[in-house]
Amino acid sequence: MERSRITVSTRSPEETLRLAVKLGKRCGPGDVISLTGELGSGKTLFAKGLARGLDVPKDEPVVSPSFTLLNEYAGRCPVYHFDFYRLDGVQDLENLGIDEYISGEGVVMVEWAERIPEALGTERLEIHLEYAGENERTIIISGIGRRYTELVGMMRQESGFNFL
Ligand SMILES: Nc1ncnc2c1ncn2[C@@H]1O[C@H](COP(=O)(O)OP(=O)(O)O)[C@@H](O)[C@H]1O
Ligand SMILES: [Mg+2]
Repeated sequence: MERSRITVSTRSPEETLRLAVKLGKRCGPGDVISLTGELGSGKTLFAKGLARGLDVPKDEPVVSPSFTLLNEYAGRCPVYHFDFYRLDGVQDLENLGIDEYISGEGVVMVEWAERIPEALGTERLEIHLEYAGENERTIIISGIGRRYTELVGMMRQESGFNFL
């Protein structure tokens, strides 16, 4: 399986949002994105940027679906925002019917995806956020599979970011 990876350092929430918007603009139907990193690392903020890049209107709140498990937004295509934090396991997942979303016509983004690694299939984009100071984050963007290594390749060309 092809793999590719870039690491970006951001120094403010706005900069992380800007990075995520850029990425969201390049995403489309069928894309699967995992968001990992400890509490407060910026997963929900990144999801918000992705949604904005996918043309989800600015007045649509993008918040963590920690209790509902899934928020759905209407952008250029449907955007499915999951949070596995409170998920009890594969049984809950089956009840959610996540497979239908993954092979569907929308973009799937999942916070705490590492709680059920088998849920997302092999090909995906992984966003891992690490706390690096009060307003600093180290963001590792990994593409697994042809589609996503290409996406990472395009992000590598973006200017105005601090690549590590
Ligand atoms: N460089 C940065 N990138 C992302 N978030 C940042 C950054 N600096 C500070 N923050 C703050 O960190 C918090 C991230 O919260 P959130 O996105 O809800 O995290 P999570 O979903 O991972 O728990 C926000 O309050 C945000 O303003
Ligand atoms: Mg969150």
